[in-house]
Amino acid sequence: MRGAILATALTVAALAAGPVRAEPDNYTESERGRYLTILGDCMACHIGPDGQSLAGGHLLETPFGKISVPNITPDDETGIGRWTADDFDQAMRHGVRPDGTHLYPAFPYTSFTKMSRADNDAIFAYLRTRPAVEHRVDRDTLPFPFNIRLLMAGWNWLNFTPGEFQPDPQRSAEYNRGAYLVEGPAHCGLCHTPRNLIGGDQTSAHLEGGALQGWFAPNITADKRLGIGDWSEAEIIAYLRTGHTERSAASGPMAEVVAYSTSQMTEADLKAIAVYLRERGGAGSAAPAPVPAEDSRMRAGAAIYDDTCAACHVGDGSGATGMFPRLANNQLILQDDPTGILRVVLQGSQSVATPQAPTAPSMPSFSWRLTDQQVADVATFIRNSWGNAAPAVSAEQVRKMRELTAERPD
Ligand code: HEC
Ligand code: HEC
Ligand code: HEC
Repeated sequence: MRGAILATALTVAALAAGPVRAEPDNYTESERGRYLTILGDCMACHIGPDGQSLAGGHLLETPFGKISVPNITPDDETGIGRWTADDFDQAMRHGVRPDGTHLYPAFPYTSFTKMSRADNDAIFAYLRTRPAVEHRVDRDTLPFPFNIRLLMAGWNWLNFTPGEFQPDPQRSAEYNRGAYLVEGPAHCGLCHTPRNLIGGDQTSAHLEGGALQGWFAPNITADKRLGIGDWSEAEIIAYLRTGHTERSAASGPMAEVVAYSTSQMTEADLKAIAVYLRERGGAGSAAPAPVPAEDSRMRAGAAIYDDTCAACHVGDGSGATGMFPRLANNQLILQDDPTGILRVVLQGSQSVATPQAPTAPSMPSFSWRLTDQQVADVATFIRNSWGNAAPAVSAEQVRKMRELTAERPD
């Protein structure tokens, strides 16, 4: 009986909210909540020491210091067991805790604010069904002055626009669903939008690519050169579903996004994301002139490439489908910021294994075999061969990247 009332209430809510809601419509409230925690990738950050609960404990690196991720299981003492649905909604949509203190935007409330009260109630209902895990997390990990939570009130004033997602009536239901997912629960901009000096979104460059923890989340606007404008809808869906396409493999933070979130989304939702990313537009950027093949850095880079890279990525940069990513017309390589390439060449990389692509090939680390200048030259070479064109990389950039990655072995 209660289920039936709930289901009716949900249908009404679904109708009232228009096209935005597209979770399978036979879901109960807590099943809908479970699906929303997948959309919101809660697990990637809140995963507990047991590897399966949301008991928290991870330290997230931010430019301001390390922030610990709290326990959000329903444990009374160490989790959110004493919270009400109102408390939860206030945290999700305004970044404020029940005691009135502010949460830091490493918790993506700046995106979660786009979710509705009904969404948050569903998540809360789902979290209540999970076992309470006793796990105390030290919340005071940031150095002065960032440990002053009150500062966040000013930060919010500058950087935060609260408010539920509003569909654009000029656009299709699918586009609006995609916009809701990308800008709301899936918080793609947390990584893919560059940050201003105080860690807020540089809104004029929305989804144009951002650096984080020694990684680079590339441009995912419809820009044909740097973004996904040249990716087909099927390719975007495959990348989000499996972590692999012929041209790219998801590693690092994106591998986690794929594993915990996008690989478990419905086909309809992945399609909506692809439609939104392809149709929302994005400035077409002009390609720089490529560094000419006769340049000494290019010649040195070509020799290193033939010796150390071509065995896998092939002499013409075409790679091998499903095994070695293509380097020609590969957007990760073309970004102005070479962080993504340098990271892979110095540290190697193991991309995500998903049920659809269970064996993840890996890229060896070259940090011990190549000098800063050699890494720079081979990077310059792959950025400017086979039709690619991107600024040359200097030995100094490689040195800095080595410093950054040596600090954080993982
Ligand atoms: C990118 C990492 C990240 C993701 C994804 C994330 N969180 Fe969090 N969350 C955090 C961090 C960090 C904090 C603590 C912020 C602070 O201490 O100010 C936090 C705090 C919270 C809090 C406040 C708890 C408290 O005791 O103060 C709640 C509730 C919460 N998250 C729920 C969620 C839910 C639900 C999801 C998924 C829909 C989610 N989070 C996704 C990082 C994340
Ligand atoms: C936690 C940070 C983070 C979040 C959240 C995130 N991404 Fe990413 N994304 C990255 C990083 C880092 C890369 C580069 C991966 C690599 O180097 O292999 C990436 C790569 C990608 C790529 C491949 C781009 C290319 O040119 O190779 C696509 C497409 C993408 N992300 C889409 C999305 C979408 C859509 C969302 C939201 C559903 C999202 N990402 C959320 C960090 C993130
Ligand atoms: C033994 C085979 C092998 C060799 C040798 C190799 N790679 Fe890779 N490379 C890979 C694999 C596999 C991946 C995908 C890794 C992943 O999925 O995270 C990759 C990924 C990359 C990427 C990231 C592409 C993307 O879109 O995610 C770049 C850039 C790259 N390699 C450059 C190089 C360069 C430069 C060299 C030579 C210095 C080189 N590789 C040598 C196997 C290799």
